[in-house]
Amino acid sequence: MTGKVYLVGAGPGDPELLTLKAARVLRNADAVLHDELVAEPTLQLVPRHAQVYDVGKRCGEKKVTQEEINSLMMALAGSGLQVVRLKGGDPLIFGRAGEEIAALRQASIPFEIVPGITAALGAAAAAEIPLTHRQSSHALVFVAGHSASGFDETDWPALVSLGATIVVYMPGPHYAKIAQNLRAAGLEGEVACAVISKATTPQEQVYSTTLQHLAEAPVLPTPTLLVIGRVVGQSRHQFLPAELENAAPFARRLEPEL
Ligand SMILES: C[S@@+](CC[C@H](N)C(=O)[O-])C[C@H]1O[C@@H](n2cnc3c(N)ncnc32)[C@H](O)[C@@H]1O
Repeated sequence: MTGKVYLVGAGPGDPELLTLKAARVLRNADAVLHDELVAEPTLQLVPRHAQVYDVGKRCGEKKVTQEEINSLMMALAGSGLQVVRLKGGDPLIFGRAGEEIAALRQASIPFEIVPGITAALGAAAAAEIPLTHRQSSHALVFVAGHSASGFDETDWPALVSLGATIVVYMPGPHYAKIAQNLRAAGLEGEVACAVISKATTPQEQVYSTTLQHLAEAPVLPTPTLLVIGRVVGQSRHQFLPAELENAAPFARRLEPEL
């Protein structure tokens, strides 16, 4: 008897952002293969009898290859188990779900995708950034800061011409390069940017600046997201007056509202 694989999104960090369906599937799991970015309270939903495998990365080093993950997932489902492949955010966004879906289809293993709240949405909500706006942004683009090939394959002029809010996943420490590409593509230096670290967790930090000063942004603890666009200026984070910002770019931690 073949089991089933659920590709499940765990959301951006706050365990309360897990969907009801994801929670139900986790509670019924026989085996869970999870990524590093999945919060501990989420994993506590998994029943005690279930097999739990941490197949995430540590310090940028891959512990388990994608092929090993695929094989393990298929072997577990092939033995009749309900398997949850649990990924941070949404499984279909920068989550290698395409490779896993292809392997499952090829092996004729039944699967289902349970979406999650992607990091961009969690970060925007936490920093109160409207990702679209009737006056200033009619499009939203998610782009990876580094590609699998190691080369920057992003068509920056095309993105800028859309007038979109740009969310850069996995920006790494490459703020200067990203800013240079966007300026070269025609985006004005005064466009607002925010680096959001560990969004929706108690360690969340938001650093607000403008494109012309992005290169000076501090490297905040990972995971981080970079949001660029006029809408970022609507964040509840106050921008320093330009002359002060030049002198002292600032980072601030979100304090809980009283
Ligand atoms: C491999 S991608 C996975 C994205 C995930 N599937 C999603 O939908 O959010 C990992 C990247 O997502 C972003 N990310 C994930 N969780 C985050 C968080 N809580 N705060 C900021 N960025 C986050 C970071 O850019 C991180 O490098």
